[in-house]
Amino acid sequence: MGFRSMEELCEELREKRAAAFNGGGEKAIAKQKEKGKGTARERIDQLLDPGSFVEIDEFVTHRCTNFGLEKTRPLGDGVVTGWGTIDGRKVVVFSQDFTVLGGSLGEMHADKICKVMDLAMEMGCPVIGLNDSGGARIQEAIDALNGYGKIFFRNTHASGVIPQFSVIMGPTAGGAVYSPALTDFIFMVNKTGVMHITGPAVIKAVTGEEVTSEALGGAATHNNISGNAHFMAADERECFAQIRKVLSYLPLNNLDDAPDKPTNDAVDRADPSLRETVPTNPNVGYDVHEVLRKVLDDGEFTEVQAGWAQNILTGYGHIGGRSVGIIANQARVMAGCLDINASDKASRFIRHCDAFNLPILTFVDVPGYLPGVTQEHNGIIRHGAKLLYAYSEATVPLITVILRKAYGGAYLAMASKSLGADVVLAWPQAEIAVMGAEGAANIVFRKEIAEAGNPEETRAEKIDEYRKAFANPYVAAERGLVDRVILPEETRLSIWQALNALESKRVSRPDKKHGVIPH
Ligand code: HXC
Repeated sequence: MGFRSMEELCEELREKRAAAFNGGGEKAIAKQKEKGKGTARERIDQLLDPGSFVEIDEFVTHRCTNFGLEKTRPLGDGVVTGWGTIDGRKVVVFSQDFTVLGGSLGEMHADKICKVMDLAMEMGCPVIGLNDSGGARIQEAIDALNGYGKIFFRNTHASGVIPQFSVIMGPTAGGAVYSPALTDFIFMVNKTGVMHITGPAVIKAVTGEEVTSEALGGAATHNNISGNAHFMAADERECFAQIRKVLSYLPLNNLDDAPDKPTNDAVDRADPSLRETVPTNPNVGYDVHEVLRKVLDDGEFTEVQAGWAQNILTGYGHIGGRSVGIIANQARVMAGCLDINASDKASRFIRHCDAFNLPILTFVDVPGYLPGVTQEHNGIIRHGAKLLYAYSEATVPLITVILRKAYGGAYLAMASKSLGADVVLAWPQAEIAVMGAEGAANIVFRKEIAEAGNPEETRAEKIDEYRKAFANPYVAAERGLVDRVILPEETRLSIWQALNALESKRVSRPDKKHGVIPH
């Protein structure tokens, strides 16, 4: 009767699956491997829990007839999409297949990505995009551009609702870099991942500058110089481990709570060596990582953007098993001054934590905003203001620990009581003042010092006088701007007590469409 047998139909499906699975064919796969890159499906298998991936849309193909493209209609259209689990928790993934038309993005390729992004929003789970693509599929022209636009639109609306990670595992050029830039974090694999708006050839033609692709937009460049990327990995496996680690601190969506991480590290563990970690002399540097290691559960701090704006640290940890976001001035780099990059780095991380219900711990040791013509001309005013804005709008628990210096505007910016900190703790050597004792004495007692018969002696006396009067935590404590002055070894328990108390924190703000954050 013309009906095909079940055997035949199943065989047809098997063949189609095999064709889709084969991507761009053996030659293209071999070329991919030569570059040290995995295939799109291998990458998914390495990232997700074994056997958890469910692929959809493997038979989607383009409908372009320009420039002979109709002769090549690979199944899957150069991107593998679906869902699976990481540590048993749901995630959605898309993985561009460079072996198929260079992983280039056309109409249907974009539609596949949009479909799984929509699914992630409905399911309330993170979306992870593995990027390896020649960019807009040139033959598809405006349809390709429209595809990018649809992805940007979804990235924007998913922002703050579900975590979005972009992983750069090959080329990402032109406007294609803007989807990653709209997501929470960009992970880059060293030597294979590259991002730029225009490549070396265009730059040479337009500006005459000569630069290699790696120097222009490689992982080291974006992690250490531009600040566009947040994590750098030596290879793909390390990159996947980083992604899994970061996800372990986050809830699946903005209505969910972050998972707890049970620990044997007692919350009342008092580490007496903290007394020696931060020198009482405000001009002596130290590594604030040491403080974090001694305070957090099991000494574990997962740093975000470790290579850029190192005068401030951002990252995750746990206290008593609870996931927290951490911001800390790094006294060892630029004396922990706030500058444009530090303000950008910290304010974005604060907003990320606030969006995903992570309490924020702020460790303060800050002499001020960095002075200088370059900083002023590049807009330290508006960049610095982002920090004020981000802390002020945050509704998650804010716990501040003033380790040592907290001067002037930077004192206010670093999660001060006036910006909404719930609990402010200060160590005994904390100096909460308009400025350091030297600067203050030189201004306030300028006349007396100049007119004294022994100016240098008088200066030293006045500095000492000012230090005794103001360089301590007690003036602020008298005003209630510090809630508790604590011994360094009481820090861990005090933070845990505050976290516990603030677990039920609820804040309501006036209804509005959105604020206008300074940029
Ligand atoms: C169609 C593409 C493609 C693209 C690569 N291919 N990029 N096909 N559209 N954008 C195809 C190649 O023709 C080749 O096909 C196969 O993919 C592999 O590419 P190779 O060049 O052999 O690989 P490699 O030597 O590794 O070089 C990779 C590359 C290079 C650096 C990415 O392919 C390249 O420069 N591509 C063009 C990049 C580009 O200008 N894209 C447009 C950016 S503008 P065959 O059949 O030979 O195997 C953009 C605008 C977005 O993206 C705007 C959004 C708002």
